[in-house]
Amino acid sequence: MVRLGVIGTGTFGVNHLRAYKQLEYEGKACLAAASDLDEERLARLKDDFGMNIYTDYREMLKKEDLDGVSVVTPDFLHRRIAIDVLESGRHVLVEKPLDVTVEGCQEIIQAAERNRRLLQVDFHKRFDPYHIEIRRAVLDGKLGDPLYGYAYMEDRIEVPRDWFPQWAPKSSPSWFLGIHMYDLIRWIVGSDGKSAFARGQKRKLMGMGIDTYDSVQAQVTFENGAVVSFHTSWILPDRFESIVNQGIRLIGTEGIIEVDSQNRGAEACFTSDKGMRTYNSSFLFETTDSKGRKVYDGYGIRSIQDFAHNVIFLKSGGTIAELRRRGYISGEDGLQATKIALAVEKSLVTGEEVEID
Ligand SMILES: NC(=O)c1ccc[n+]([C@@H]2O[C@H](COP(=O)([O-])OP(=O)(O)OC[C@H]3O[C@@H](n4cnc5c(N)ncnc54)[C@H](O)[C@@H]3O)[C@@H](O)[C@H]2O)c1
Repeated sequence: MVRLGVIGTGTFGVNHLRAYKQLEYEGKACLAAASDLDEERLARLKDDFGMNIYTDYREMLKKEDLDGVSVVTPDFLHRRIAIDVLESGRHVLVEKPLDVTVEGCQEIIQAAERNRRLLQVDFHKRFDPYHIEIRRAVLDGKLGDPLYGYAYMEDRIEVPRDWFPQWAPKSSPSWFLGIHMYDLIRWIVGSDGKSAFARGQKRKLMGMGIDTYDSVQAQVTFENGAVVSFHTSWILPDRFESIVNQGIRLIGTEGIIEVDSQNRGAEACFTSDKGMRTYNSSFLFETTDSKGRKVYDGYGIRSIQDFAHNVIFLKSGGTIAELRRRGYISGEDGLQATKIALAVEKSLVTGEEVEID
């Protein structure tokens, strides 16, 4: 049975713990260990999940018998930690973005190659059934040549204000949200980014002492000529109907595709809530397993479990070359998305269109 660990057990790290614990329920894997700097948080999570806990991830890597490890720390810490995981001989799943620099992504990719270990990136929007279906339509040629499109992803203001105000200034709506959409559109249209032109606004969050963009609008030209506008923001009101608003439109020579990736048709209003709510159950929903235990399902879980399944495949004699043929979200995918995000960031500063090499 494969043994899995998680480094970084904050807001999103908990999802990794759930994904692996549920595979343990199914007898397929073991959630062996987790590391975080926050001792109290770790102790609470140990009660819920039962794994061994460490405040020093290096000690965890040294003491624990692990096959694969998730890195779910703030973006700018992925590089060092992912490399340490790979150098310790473990496969690694890195949260998006792989790294915030081209050199960092390349270093992580080289560490994976040197140690012959799997490097996978958690771009979970590729596991959304709606997105899988529209990619299929593009692959089948139904859309014709992709010409232009629009992707948007917007968070309620609580994300930068309450979730991680300490590292929000080192991120932005483009890095935190746009990176999902840069990868998703690149995957759907099957083409890398060629250039980017961006504008952004810094008003509301700056006024609250959080030095980052409220919103970013980026126009990205892809190698195949498709031009897609990406709108991302971090300032939707607290009363907005969901934590995130998101969707895509894509127009080709032979058709049009429109997906509301947030509102899947379920809407509700309860006295206990602040207003109307919509539910993206495709991402995450709570249910129970056959033994009555609380479990979660959705693409937010499945993309993490995909890594665990790949580790199981490798441990049972499969090769990374075979996985590559089947397709998994690789370090190269992480690098290409980061290149787009960096071009957007540079364009925000220079005001010019930026070529992506
Ligand atoms: N796939 C998604 O949709 C999605 C959603 C949210 C966040 N994320 C990504 O997940 C990562 C974490 O985001 P978050 O919202 O959970 O942030 P967070 O701030 O809530 O959690 C980060 C955790 O990492 C811990 N940490 C920091 N340095 C560490 C170290 N050296 N060793 C061990 N633990 C350490 C912190 O104590 C904290 O608990 C980011 O890369 C973010 O972009 C992905």
